[in-house]
Amino acid sequence: MNADINTLENYQSDKCWHGLFQRPEELKQDSTNSLPCNEILHGDCISVMKGFPNSSVNLIVTDPPYLVNYQDRMGRSIQNDVNSDWIKPAFKQAWRVLKDNSFCVSFYGDTHIDVFMSAWKEAGFRPVGHIVWPKTYASSSYYLARHHEQAFLLAKGYPQKPQTVLPDIQEWAYTGNKLHPTQKSVDVIKPLINSFSNVGDLVLDPFSGSGTTALAAKQTGRNYIGIELEDNFVEISRNRLI
Ligand SMILES: C[S@@+](CC[C@H](N)C(=O)[O-])C[C@H]1O[C@@H](n2cnc3c(N)ncnc32)[C@H](O)[C@@H]1O
Repeated sequence: MNADINTLENYQSDKCWHGLFQRPEELKQDSTNSLPCNEILHGDCISVMKGFPNSSVNLIVTDPPYLVNYQDRMGRSIQNDVNSDWIKPAFKQAWRVLKDNSFCVSFYGDTHIDVFMSAWKEAGFRPVGHIVWPKTYASSSYYLARHHEQAFLLAKGYPQKPQTVLPDIQEWAYTGNKLHPTQKSVDVIKPLINSFSNVGDLVLDPFSGSGTTALAAKQTGRNYIGIELEDNFVEISRNRLI
C-alpha cells in the first residue's frame, strides 16, 4: 500500500473523498448512508458503529482499555477498564464495518490476551502478526518491570501485502500522557497507517481517547472517524484536530 500523500492526484484534504464513498454533499441527501467522516463522535462505540454501513472503513487502528483497572499518578482512570462485557460486541461491530481484505491493528492488555483473542476470533478476525514497541522505561512494575507495548495485526479476509513491510519491532515514543492517561504518540501510529492503508482511505478508531489515531490519519492524508465515550476526551481530540 502506498504511504506517500503526494502521489495521489485526486486527494482533497478538505473533503471526505477516499474513492470508495459518496462525497459529503451526496451523503447528506442519502438518508440510508449514515457514515460520518473526519469527525470525533461522542458515545459508546458499539451503538455508534451499529449505525455504520457494512464494509465501510479501510483500516481500524485502536487502543482499547487493557482491563487492568489502570490509575495513573494523578489518579486518572479509564472507562471500561475493569469489566470486559464490551469487548465481544465492540469487535463484532468493528469486523462488520471494516471492508473485506483489510486490517485492524489493536493494542491489548497482555494479561488478558485470552479475552481479547477470543473476541477477535469470534468476530472473524485472523491474527496475522504481532507488533512490539520496546520502551526504555518501565510503565509499571510488579512481577515484571513492563518495558514494552504490544498490538496484534488482525486481518478481515486476505489483504494484499503492504508496499512498505514494517518490522514487527517498532520504535516507541513517549508522550508524557498530558492529554490522556494512556496517550499514544502520533509517531507510533503513523507508520501503521502508512503501511496498512492508502492515501484517501478512511481510518476508524472506536476507542479514540485523545484522538491520536485520528490525528495520525489526518497527518498522513487519510480520512478518519474517532469514537470516544468520555466527553472531555472528545473535546480534547476535536481541539487537537482543528
Ligand atoms: C486506552 S484509551 C485510548 C487512548 C488513545 N490511544 C490516545 O492516544 O489517547 C481507551 C479509550 O477508550 C474509551 N472507551 C472505553 N470504552 C468505550 C466504548 N465502549 N466506546 C467508546 N470509547 C470507549 C475510554 O474512555 C478511553 O479514552
